Amino acid sequence: MIFQSTELPPFLAYRKGRLYLEELALEELGAQFGTPVYIYSAGALRAAYQRYLQAFTSVGLNLSLCYAIKANSNLSIIRLFGELGAGADVVSGGELYRALQAGIAPEQIVFAGVGKTAAEMDYALEQKIGTFNIESASELALLERRAVAVGQEARVSIRVNPNVDAQTHPYIATGRNHNKFGLNPTQSLELARYAAGSASLFLVGLQMHIGSQVLQVGPLVEAFKCLLSLASQLEVEEIYLEQLDLGGGLGVTYQDEQPEQPDKLAAAIADLLKEHQSKQPYRLISEPGRYLTANAGVLATSVLYIKQGELVDPCFAIVDAGMNDLIRPALYNAKHRIMPLHERPGALSQVYEVVGPVCESGDFLGHEVTLTELKEGDMLGLLGAGAYGFSMASNYNSRLRPPEILVDEYTARLIRHRETYEDLVFLED
Ligand SMILES: Cc1ncc(COP(=O)(O)O)c(C=O)c1O
Repeated sequence: MIFQSTELPPFLAYRKGRLYLEELALEELGAQFGTPVYIYSAGALRAAYQRYLQAFTSVGLNLSLCYAIKANSNLSIIRLFGELGAGADVVSGGELYRALQAGIAPEQIVFAGVGKTAAEMDYALEQKIGTFNIESASELALLERRAVAVGQEARVSIRVNPNVDAQTHPYIATGRNHNKFGLNPTQSLELARYAAGSASLFLVGLQMHIGSQVLQVGPLVEAFKCLLSLASQLEVEEIYLEQLDLGGGLGVTYQDEQPEQPDKLAAAIADLLKEHQSKQPYRLISEPGRYLTANAGVLATSVLYIKQGELVDPCFAIVDAGMNDLIRPALYNAKHRIMPLHERPGALSQVYEVVGPVCESGDFLGHEVTLTELKEGDMLGLLGAGAYGFSMASNYNSRLRPPEILVDEYTARLIRHRETYEDLVFLED
């Protein structure tokens, strides 16, 4: 979903100066549950899911959507997507555990990651997951040994690194050959042949994921062409694939980005699949995360102190959320829109450095943010916080991670409690 920088994401609107998510005023939720607090809209999550899926079905493609749970790993969010029919993309034993706890069927789970351990493999084999996405020859060799040991055939897909530039932040670009992810086309073919000939491995397909917050579909289409070309080469050798996995990556609007949408991606993929002569239709998988959750979430925070320096110095709004709660600004220089939860009509505008309480100068949530004049106690909302927000939160500075709330029309449900001091030391001697 694209919206202009002057508009709000769907499901967010000002009514009489107060910012509402669905039918509830965020300021009231902030007061009820305390700040900082993550608040998500169930309606926005469902709408994004349907938009993504519909884009593919409307061009005749039957997409298996495996939600990338790293974007937002709360059990209630995974369950919400599971109820809509989603599978899950997981990258650790912990994420696999979450997906299973949320009721995702094991055969609808794909497991990626360059560093899977033997213990994680055993767990996934015992659960009979759908696919291991393999990222190196050594990993495939270990998986084969573990499959023999566990007595369970491993279904594998080879993650291809197509050396395509996704044109995104270098930390979340994964499809160039200097990145640690996947295998180059030649190695991919070698491993696919090996897996196809192994008694304990079952080659199901090829997978790609070239990066996150990808704004143009061109690079994704380029990478998918590489997958199809490898599939053709394997077919010549009578190695037939069941599935092709597009990975995730489609970007969202945080400020004024105008990302290309799933319908454009789906149309291009459908054209390529039509041109491609394969013996049997592929099961098409996609692993979106950010697209489904980013603009469904707001991080609500309260202004603790206003600190005005000399005339030329910045004016700091010190808020109760910090880099431990939302690390994206500090880590990627990400820019989230920051909006007052209660607009004060007629107030003058002022430029603020919105910063948290953590003891680092990297602890900022927004630089040079123009807001109507703030007072201590005012609440602000950081938009676009539904993806890679809470899931990247930490206890740095021994701060308690915030609660999470799921809004569905007129109801607000606490889907994760605020941590307590006891939680902080629970695992320590
Ligand atoms: C293998 C894999 N699939 C899917 C995703 C989801 O990406 P996004 O949230 O950009 O859709 C990621 C994110 O890094 C990933 O590593």
